[in-house]
Amino acid sequence: MVKVVRRLPSPRGAALLPQFTSIGALIGALRPAAPVYALFPNRFQRAAATFLTGFPGETMYAVKANPAPAVLDHLHQAGIRHFDTASLREVELIKRRYPGATCYFMAPVRPYGAAGAAFHHYGLRDFALDSEEELSRVLEETGLKGTPRARELTLYVRLAAPSDGAAIELSSKFGTTVAEGADLLKRIAAEGATPALTFHVGSLCLKPAAFEKALALCAETIRQSGVSIAAIDVGGGFPAPYPGQAMPPMGEFFAAIASMRSRLPVAEDCHLRCEPGRALVAEGMSVITQVMLRRERELYLNDGIYGSLDELSLPNWNVDYPLDVYAAQGEGDPQQREAKRVPFLAWGPTCDTLDKLPRPLMLPEDIATGDWVVFGMMGAYSCALRTGFNGFYPDQFADVIEGA
Ligand SMILES: Cc1ncc(COP(=O)(O)O)c(C=O)c1O
Repeated sequence: MVKVVRRLPSPRGAALLPQFTSIGALIGALRPAAPVYALFPNRFQRAAATFLTGFPGETMYAVKANPAPAVLDHLHQAGIRHFDTASLREVELIKRRYPGATCYFMAPVRPYGAAGAAFHHYGLRDFALDSEEELSRVLEETGLKGTPRARELTLYVRLAAPSDGAAIELSSKFGTTVAEGADLLKRIAAEGATPALTFHVGSLCLKPAAFEKALALCAETIRQSGVSIAAIDVGGGFPAPYPGQAMPPMGEFFAAIASMRSRLPVAEDCHLRCEPGRALVAEGMSVITQVMLRRERELYLNDGIYGSLDELSLPNWNVDYPLDVYAAQGEGDPQQREAKRVPFLAWGPTCDTLDKLPRPLMLPEDIATGDWVVFGMMGAYSCALRTGFNGFYPDQFADVIEGA
């Protein structure tokens, strides 16, 4: 049954998504031959509420994790008003859609002109950096170098943080040492800008202690610099409850951060921020794919690593997404297959031999050509990474209203 029951109340370009009461109803109505991104508004609301009520500071959403307008609308509707934007395109996307939102430009190395455009055209005042060159560029492009207005800029020195317990490390590309970070903080203060610190413990971090260790590095950097800090942004990296992962409750991450915050050599009014991507969106989206062909224990799916399933091809990636299979045959809404699960090799839709999922999928042994394989918990780094290679560009979205 397809029902379009409401228009999402986004300020501009409101997304009108078809709505369904379940994944089975969606598949039954659309019998989709191209991948569909099924969004669960209540899950976005729950994830946002976890951070907005539990994190001991301000929460921004890292847009890179999923910039689909319908996803942004769900988060905005759930109360997210601060956004970690790491490119001018992301800044434009957010400021056009939500003019009242605050963007923070948290990529430490930007293309020429990006900081200036973000400052002059979109009013950004917060920038991450990890080098003297980028500091000079921000000051010059904003035109604030040597002026009293330089203090309007909050400049976050990105520290390299140990990625203990994270699936993907994010400190070999960006981040300085404590000693260099302290020097940069001094330079920022000397330029009259407002000094701040940031780090990223790595994506899908399962250990609250990783945040404590990184905050201890912040404490040491502040001490060595002798500079007063206006904000600390603890980055992203917060996990999502993928099957088989030993994820501590989110409250343990927040408690560890709050406890370290109280021991930092910073003033009472020092802002504490975080910029989760994965944790805000992972649970809110499933990808519905179709089996174009079953050949023995091999499946040809209509989505693959050049589409929504890129994350599966990351080195050492050991996350399994929840998988459900809906049978194409039968009356009424398609039913889930319940047969014993066995491993299948899965290919994507392109002509490229590399378009193959690196690990087998455990699927019901009676899965057939035409069935739909639903990958759950696919909100993070899925549609954000689709390429359009070979003409395959999944772009259909629908809402699933659970409990409706
Ligand atoms: C600077 C920065 N902030 C936030 C994020 C979001 O990280 P996660 O999705 O692990 O929360 C990333 C991810 O690459 C990042 O590079």
